[in-house]
Amino acid sequence: MRGAETVVLGIESSCDETAAALVTGDRRIVAQRIASQEAAHAPYGGVVPEIAARAHAEKLAPLIEAVLDDAGIALADCDAVAATAGPGLIGGVMVGLVTAKALAMASDKPLIAINHLEGHALSPRLADPKLDFPYALLLVSGGHCQILQVDGVGRYTRLATTIDDALGEAFDKTAKILGLPYPGGPAVEELATEGNPNAVPLPRPLVGSGEPHFSFAGLKSAVLRAAESGRHDRADIAASFQHAAIDCICDRLQHALEEMDEVTALVVAGGVAANGHVRQALERLAAGRGLRFVAPPLELCTDNAAMIAWAGIERLRQGASDPLDISARPRWPLDPRAAPVRGAGYKA
Ligand code: KG4
Ligand code: ZN
Repeated sequence: MRGAETVVLGIESSCDETAAALVTGDRRIVAQRIASQEAAHAPYGGVVPEIAARAHAEKLAPLIEAVLDDAGIALADCDAVAATAGPGLIGGVMVGLVTAKALAMASDKPLIAINHLEGHALSPRLADPKLDFPYALLLVSGGHCQILQVDGVGRYTRLATTIDDALGEAFDKTAKILGLPYPGGPAVEELATEGNPNAVPLPRPLVGSGEPHFSFAGLKSAVLRAAESGRHDRADIAASFQHAAIDCICDRLQHALEEMDEVTALVVAGGVAANGHVRQALERLAAGRGLRFVAPPLELCTDNAAMIAWAGIERLRQGASDPLDISARPRWPLDPRAAPVRGAGYKA
């Protein structure tokens, strides 16, 4: 496959997906493999860090070999090795980063340490060559819930974050309350299709508030009370939760967009961007404000290594590379200037 194009090997291991991918500068995902640990964590209803780290250590090397085989290239043909260096579960991040360091050293190629959130933030540009900076980004995953203005690679201004739970976390907790399997987001979305979104009165925390942030803890507690009351159908609770959560996102986005200038697109990224109702609501919101709406294909929304390889390409184009003694970071904000938010935990 080797032509003149840059090709970067990407590695992702920050949560419960072990992934490797090869991506070219002309936006081709030449090969990618993902080993999900869902089955290993399912009995616990969430990700167990020690189980995750062990599984990454077992699966990563064979996955990397497999993507190189799939593409028919050798490590020596790659231009750089990019790996998630944080934020995330530190054991898993270390497995990926140490592996990347060894490969970079053995092949004498540059190492690029990628912020996992930057992988999500730039992933829409892998899928859409027309997406230029600056854009408004809603980043919604299991650990993060932020609105950012993206002015360029490495140039992020955070306008909002969550003061308690992330949106994906709220989906996962709702799923647990409703007795649905882990991971909860897709299960809640599916059950919601059978329910009435207006059947259960639920709060919309911070909607209409002058402060910019998100809050989902009160919504989750209300879901718990509704479920425990025994008065509501589970599908109605799922649909009403999803409806309330979407109202919150749209309100917070409207608020943040007032603070941004010159953005031409509204972009959604992260695992919750896989939700069809979330996408539809954002598409309507964008159309109402004369903005393009861009959402990456589903396989690029949840954790994957193609987005890490792509972020590596974007960074490589800027001449970036990192020293082999760089450390893994459990916390790593995209916008270091953003003020910490009380109660936000590692989501800040
Ligand atoms: O980006 P991601 O794969 O991992 C993190 O970096 O957190 O996001 C995973 C999150 C989980 O909370 C999962 O429940 C949620 O994304 N998710 C969804 C859907 N698919 C995944 N939430 C709502 N609807 C979905 N269809
Ligand atoms: Zn993620």
